[in-house]
Amino acid sequence: MRDLRIGYLIDHPEYMPQLAQWLFQEWDVILGEKTPEARIKKLKAHMNRDHLPIAWVAHAKGQLLGTAALRVHDLEGREDLTPWLGGVFVGSQFRRRGIGAALCSTVVEAARSRGVETLYLFTLDKQEWYSRQGWTVLSPCIWHERPGDIMLKRLQSA
Ligand SMILES: CC(C)(COP(=O)(O)OP(=O)(O)OC[C@H]1O[C@@H](n2cnc3c(N)ncnc32)[C@H](O)[C@@H]1OP(=O)(O)O)[C@@H](O)C(=O)NCCC(=O)NCCS
Repeated sequence: MRDLRIGYLIDHPEYMPQLAQWLFQEWDVILGEKTPEARIKKLKAHMNRDHLPIAWVAHAKGQLLGTAALRVHDLEGREDLTPWLGGVFVGSQFRRRGIGAALCSTVVEAARSRGVETLYLFTLDKQEWYSRQGWTVLSPCIWHERPGDIMLKRLQSA
């Protein structure tokens, strides 16, 4: 996509309200949150560039397009695995233009440059999409009574 930029959320606080709204609608329904406030709190914790958790935003011409994050933990009960790609989301009207893949690449490269050898993620239903980006299924897993899979990607140092 022309003009696509991916930057740290901490450098773009102006996108916070839209981002909180999107993620609230997508996931907090499952998590049982009643207002976007808890989501804003979670997002604020991701406003870092030197330590985890770190969130990135994809944007173009002052328009928020999507987000992704690098986290120490992402799945309750699997604290043995770290770190994780999480919070991958692209606004519905901006999908199927490569923005999601570009966000994933940004997080993968950030992890690689920090010396991470294996990166994990949890997905309910995007296994095939991640497989096409080089991820493999590690094991099935339940999240809030819904079945999904833990996937991993081995990162070779550059
Ligand atoms: C999953 C999600 C992040 C993908 O974002 P996206 O920006 O649409 O992702 P991409 O554009 O990189 O890839 C989507 C498809 O568009 C295709 N595509 C990529 N660039 C394209 C282009 N320029 N023109 C047409 N299609 C294109 C990709 O090949 C891909 O097809 P595939 O599904 O057959 O692999 C998005 O659908 C989303 O936010 N879903 C809801 C939240 C979610 O499920 N997040 C993942 C949690 S684990």
